[in-house]
Amino acid sequence: NKVVLAYSGGLDTSVIVPWLRENYGCDVVCFTADVGQGIKELDGLEKKAKASGASQLVVKDLKEEFVKDYIFPCLRAGAIYERKYLLGTSMARPVIAKAMVDVAKEVGADAVAHGCTGKGNDQVRFELTFFALNPKLNVVAPWREWDITGREDAIEYAKKHNVPVPVTKKSIYSRDGNLWHLSHEGDILEDPENEPKKDMFMLTVDPEDAPNVPEYVEIGIVSGIPVSVNGKELSPASLLDHVNQIGGKHGIGRVDMVENRLVGMKSRGVYETPGGTILFTAARELESLTLDRETMQVKDSLALKYAELVYAGRWFDPLRESLDSFMEEISKTTTGSVILKLYKGSVIVTSRKSPYSLYRQDISSFESGDIYDQADAAGFIRLYGLPIRVRAMLDS
Ligand code: ARG
Ligand code: SIN
Repeated sequence: NKVVLAYSGGLDTSVIVPWLRENYGCDVVCFTADVGQGIKELDGLEKKAKASGASQLVVKDLKEEFVKDYIFPCLRAGAIYERKYLLGTSMARPVIAKAMVDVAKEVGADAVAHGCTGKGNDQVRFELTFFALNPKLNVVAPWREWDITGREDAIEYAKKHNVPVPVTKKSIYSRDGNLWHLSHEGDILEDPENEPKKDMFMLTVDPEDAPNVPEYVEIGIVSGIPVSVNGKELSPASLLDHVNQIGGKHGIGRVDMVENRLVGMKSRGVYETPGGTILFTAARELESLTLDRETMQVKDSLALKYAELVYAGRWFDPLRESLDSFMEEISKTTTGSVILKLYKGSVIVTSRKSPYSLYRQDISSFESGDIYDQADAAGFIRLYGLPIRVRAMLDS
């Protein structure tokens, strides 16, 4: 039998390879997804996987699929978890797990394995995706089974099994990165009173050190999906990469929060989402022109549920998919462009326009026009306020 392991080349996943062979007697196929986390050298990764005992390493570039089919739908929906989290890790798990199901089929594996701990959200996201796409696959989660407890243990296990210990210095933080974001958890962050250290951040400069001159950026959007930056059309992944560079330079998109994990505990995390923060601001701003009040309210209320489902690993759930159809339909007219001014960590909207804009200067203007008759307002207010007046009459 054969297992496909989600592999990063770090110490933990390197130790999982011999552990799977020893405890399950199976052939291990390592799988690495490129979701824009910055894989350094593929050559070295393959050598490393094989040195750990894997029969092969499969690498797939999922960047365009990830941005187009996972990130942009969440952006269109306006999905934000617990008021702040732009779901960077949550969106990446289903695209990786889906690719693992495909690889399992390609190599004839009957099982899949991941290196998530038993205390987090990621295990749920991987496994719900496996369930949804191939319920027959066996799932192995070594962290929930073995008695390796810390880094020293893992190194000892590696040495005992003649597995080269990865030379890459393990960061003190638990990090997860992709094209959308970089997350930081652990170490001094575990005390929610501690301010993050300046040198922890990697995608964004400290807003205090950002340029003293603001930069303007124009985002072009079609039906809720970003398509261009400063008039230049780009593919989903290159567009995101481009706005990440711009946002990072100006210290945009840092979030520091305490969140409720699906498994019940609270955890403190710090996120860097530079390009995503710019795109979110632009998309919401355009909706202020194109959506009426009630539509916007319903959309925002469903966005909460949408975000919760994505956070909880229920990407391939008919409920999320149906909500997505709603989001697609309601965003048909969210087309146009928004100009933003980036300055020392802030994103300031300066201009918005849309061919579907519901804003009418001739109606809104303080200069009088003929569509809106101010005299109509008197009757409107009397009827609109009728319940308030009736209630007040009880006391007088
Ligand atoms: N708390 C975030 C989430 O659940 C980030 C998780 C980061 N994952 C990791 N393996 N370091 O989406
Ligand atoms: C993990 O526990 O594997 C990372 C954190 C998380 O999944 O929430």
